[in-house]
Amino acid sequence: MTDIAELETETLAAIAAAADEAALEAVRVGALGKKGSISALLATLGKMSPEDRKTEGAKINALKDKAQEAVAARRDVLQAEALEKRLSAETVDVTLPVQESGQELGRIHPISQVMDELTAIFADMGFSVAEGPDIESDDYNFTKLNFPEGHPAREMHDTFFFPPGADGKRKLLRTHTSPVQVRTMLSKAPPIRVICPGRTYRCDSDQTHTPMFHQVEGLVIDETTHMGHLKWVLEEFLKAFFEVKSVKMRFRPSFFPFTEPSAEVDVQCRRKDGDIRFGEGEDWMEILGCGMVHPNVLRNCGLDPDKYQGFAFGVGIDRLAMLKYGMSDLRAFFEADARWLTHYGFRPLDFPTLAGGLSG
Ligand code: PHE
Repeated sequence: MTDIAELETETLAAIAAAADEAALEAVRVGALGKKGSISALLATLGKMSPEDRKTEGAKINALKDKAQEAVAARRDVLQAEALEKRLSAETVDVTLPVQESGQELGRIHPISQVMDELTAIFADMGFSVAEGPDIESDDYNFTKLNFPEGHPAREMHDTFFFPPGADGKRKLLRTHTSPVQVRTMLSKAPPIRVICPGRTYRCDSDQTHTPMFHQVEGLVIDETTHMGHLKWVLEEFLKAFFEVKSVKMRFRPSFFPFTEPSAEVDVQCRRKDGDIRFGEGEDWMEILGCGMVHPNVLRNCGLDPDKYQGFAFGVGIDRLAMLKYGMSDLRAFFEADARWLTHYGFRPLDFPTLAGGLSG
């Protein structure tokens, strides 16, 4: 006959040693299950004499109760331990800052921002946006814009030419956005009011020049538009863009083959400790080229210069961005340094509008 005291020691030790609820259940089944060791002992009672049954029965039942209690107590301990473990593993530190979503981390490049600002400003004045290809024909980039063959102004543009094609003509990377004027006049009947932002290319590189840069062209053609309108549009544009109440402008006579008369525009500014402020001060800063569209250009684009007239202007977008947002080295614009972009970039959901504020 199995020694009851020994079985008790063994069973209680196994219960105490069970490391988790599954192990405890195995011990319970081994002792108290149908075929368990304690159940087997109980089964021997039937074959005992009535006296033995009385004494042994009491002992075996006491062992059974003890084992059941020990299992229940151990289960409580194991459950509490498991809960504790889970709680500490799943700890949430509610004092940590909320992790920003990708949408919050991404930044809009200052050039894209300025293009969006320009679009908002000119759309408000009734302009639409026109676009043309970066790879242009010599005809659209120069000839139709009244640059005669062999004219020195062609050389001034430091053009990137492609090798001649099957027709013997060389394509080029457009040196300015003015060919989009040509494309627009050839494809749309006046009245025309467009701006054409985009990439332009010249073989030039230093702190204020990069081989690829950005311009925005403006073009207005109808039967009555004159220089006075040009001046008003530019003034409104500069006030809105630099977010100031008034700007003083100075028109200096200049030369472009595709405008007559031509002017360069300076805006009033104040330079202080390397900082530039607009709308105040005694200094001047050259900012754009403009003029009345040359009759030859109108003619080259199929418009009758005796009927139609209008103005055009061209502004460097990179320069506008540098002036407004205080970046001094143009080359940084194109280095794709994520730290620079994090610092100077704009939040993607703060889209510029005239009503909501351009630069947020
Ligand atoms: N296309 C000229 C340039 O790149 C700028 C300009 C545009 C001047 C339109 C007058 C009118 O220098």
